[in-house]
Amino acid sequence: MQQASASAPGKLMLLGEHAVIYNRSCLVTAVDLRVHVRMEKTERYITINSSTTEQEYCFTRSELLSFNQAIPEEISFVLAAIVLILEKYNMYHGIHVITKGPKNSFGLGSSSAVTVATVRAMSEILELSLSQREIFDLSYQAVLNVQGKASGFDLAAAVYGGTLYFCNARKEIIPLGVKKVPIVIGFSGSKANTVDLVNAVSRLYNKYPWAIESIFDLIQWIVDEAKGKIISNEWEDIGKLMNLNQGLLDSLGVNTLSLSRIIFSAREAGALGAKLSGAGGGDCMFALVKEETRALVRKAMEEAGAQIVDLDSNVAGVRIEEITSER
Ligand code: PMV
Repeated sequence: MQQASASAPGKLMLLGEHAVIYNRSCLVTAVDLRVHVRMEKTERYITINSSTTEQEYCFTRSELLSFNQAIPEEISFVLAAIVLILEKYNMYHGIHVITKGPKNSFGLGSSSAVTVATVRAMSEILELSLSQREIFDLSYQAVLNVQGKASGFDLAAAVYGGTLYFCNARKEIIPLGVKKVPIVIGFSGSKANTVDLVNAVSRLYNKYPWAIESIFDLIQWIVDEAKGKIISNEWEDIGKLMNLNQGLLDSLGVNTLSLSRIIFSAREAGALGAKLSGAGGGDCMFALVKEETRALVRKAMEEAGAQIVDLDSNVAGVRIEEITSER
C-alpha cells in the first residue's frame, strides 16, 4: 500500500483580521509551526491517530458519510476533509491517518495546517493531482463544514506559504514575494475562542452597521497601503499602519488588558509597531522590530507577561515530506 506524509505551516495574521470576514482583505505570513499528516490507503476503515490526544478513532465509510456519530473536536477538521474528498470523488477506500502537531499551537493555525496537510496527503495517495487552488478550495469547504464562518486566510497561508495578500471578496491570493518579516511574536498566556469573538463583532455590526462598516473600510485601506510598503520593505511605515490597525481592533472590542500591556511595552522598548494577531481576546500579538532593538523589545514583552514564540515567518507552504510504496 502507498503511504504519503504531508506537512503544512501555521500562520500569523499581520493586518486585517475581522474585517476580512466581511469581504475585505488581509495580510498573512506562514510560520514554522508545521503539522504533519501521514496517510495510507487501506481496505475498509477510516482510522485516525492523533498525536495530540494519543487516541485512535475508527469509523466505517457509511458511518462517516451519514454523520451519525458525534465527531470529536480534535479530529473534526481531518474528518471533514476526508469525508468531503471521498464523497466528491466517489471513492470507497479505507484510510489510515496519523497526525502530528505541536503540543501548544498558540492560536497560530494548527487547524488550518492539519486540514490542508490532510487534503494534500489524500491528493497523493488517491492520485488526484490537486492543484494548489483545488487544495485551498477543498480545505475551505471542509472548514466551513466544521465551523460555519471563516475567511480562509489561514488556509491560504498553509497552502501557498510565504507572505500573502488575501482578498476575501474574490478569494484572491497574491504571494508578495517578500524576503523576511522582522517580527517578535508574543503569546499572551490565554487561549482565545475565535468563533465567540467573531460572533461578538457580528453583534456589534448588527447594532451599529454604519460605524462598523466604516471601521472595516479603514482596515481595508490600511491593508492595501501596507501591501505596497511590505513589498518595498518600508518597515517604519508598516509599523505605523500596524498601530492604526490595533486602535481599530480595540474599537471592535477584541483587545484585552494583557495584550495591551505587551503591545505598549513593545512600542515603548522601540518596536516600530505592535498589534494583536488573529481574533483577539488572548492568543498572540507581534511587534515589528529593527534588528538593533530586537533584544530590548523581546525583554520588554517578556516583562509585560508574554511568552516569546520563536518561529520563522514567511516559510514554505504545504509539501509532501515522504512517499513510500509497500507491497
Ligand atoms: O483567531 P485566528 O488566529 O484563527 O484568526 C481569526 C481571524 C478572523 O478574521 C477573526 C477570522 C477569519 O476567519 O478570518
